[in-house]
Amino acid sequence: MDNARKAGRVVVLGSASQDLYMEMERHPTTGETVMSGDIVQRFGGKGGNQAVAAARAGAETLFVGRLGDDAPGRTYLDRLVGHGVDVTRVVFEPDVPTGTALIMLNAERDNMIVVAPGANHHVNEGQVAALQDLGPADVLLMPMELPLDVTAAAIMAAAGQGTRVILNLAPYAPLSQEVLDACFLIIVNEKENELMEGDGLRAPEVLVTLGTDGSRWNQLVVPAQQVDAVDTTGAGDAYCGALAAALVAGTDRREAMVAATASSAATVQHLGAQPDPKWD
Ligand code: RIB
Repeated sequence: MDNARKAGRVVVLGSASQDLYMEMERHPTTGETVMSGDIVQRFGGKGGNQAVAAARAGAETLFVGRLGDDAPGRTYLDRLVGHGVDVTRVVFEPDVPTGTALIMLNAERDNMIVVAPGANHHVNEGQVAALQDLGPADVLLMPMELPLDVTAAAIMAAAGQGTRVILNLAPYAPLSQEVLDACFLIIVNEKENELMEGDGLRAPEVLVTLGTDGSRWNQLVVPAQQVDAVDTTGAGDAYCGALAAALVAGTDRREAMVAATASSAATVQHLGAQPDPKWD
């Protein structure tokens, strides 16, 4: 551990996927074929989205994960670099495609998402070992698109080093109570919160994102910004990344939630989970 380090880092261990967008009038029902506009490749995966949001919020940010050794993976790495994310702990996985999400966006701007994890499901103990230098000043931010055993091992290892772990329990899958207890904060949406509680799991610090109703950290409520949303994909990720950046900078809870809310509001006003680095 680097004891001389002053400012902490946001370290995201998570998924990075290409998002293939199809815009259509309405979503298909089972057995039905519908036509879409041209397919558009964008950049996503909850981990990559959160890392980009943290970096854009001003935190020194590292992304730890696996990409396929293919054109989408190489392009993705360049994008992360363009956003100022440290990618020195990213590994290219040979013979496995980069994770891919199919995102179907209808005229009401509602989405349906299916994820093929690809290289994300090859994240293993090597990436847990890459967290060895994390310390008390750092925040480990983790969404849930990696193998569950790796997620649990990373949380326990980082917490054991005194690092604050923020777990975005999305998409929801049950982890043990011991693992949840090791986290500094659990971030869930209302559905995920219901599923967590339904499994009899509890966490002392829970932040629930409430969509257009804002967000609630235990009893502290911050309203949402009222904006015209064109694409809500990645709104939660933008929230998590900006929140982690604010907390690692020492911002108090309310101000951190306000910053996270602004990040989320900015994200829903453009197509794609991540902004284009050229927009800066
Ligand atoms: O949270 C949004 C993300 O979920 C998308 O970018 C997609 O890749 C899926 O992982």
